[in-house]
Amino acid sequence: TFVVTEACIRCKYTDCVDVCPTDAFREGPNFLVIEPDDCIDCAVCVPECPVNAIYADEDVPKDQLDFIPLNEELAKDWKTISRKIAALPDADEWAKVEQKREQLQR
Ligand code: SF4
Ligand code: F3S
Repeated sequence: TFVVTEACIRCKYTDCVDVCPTDAFREGPNFLVIEPDDCIDCAVCVPECPVNAIYADEDVPKDQLDFIPLNEELAKDWKTISRKIAALPDADEWAKVEQKREQLQR
């Protein structure tokens, strides 16, 4: 499956959701995740993300491995998003911040 990582937090550009053929993305307050049961590993979402937040699970960087179970967990609680919406305010500022996992809202 594919996984959304830290870079998405407080950006939420949502370019990724427009291209997903199975509507696998789920939306939280300031982050998106991928529902592993719905992801068909097509990879088309990867180049759409302006902050390169999306990885195949086998390629997730070591310091982001906790996002694999986190995507699975949060996907059960959050609602499907299948159309692009406006990015969060200050998304372009938060895109430059690497360490921001403490900003994640559930
Ligand atoms: Fe959707 Fe394909 Fe991305 Fe999986 S890899 S989330 S199916 S676009
Ligand atoms: Fe997040 Fe990138 Fe999608 S910032 S909402 S994973 S386009």
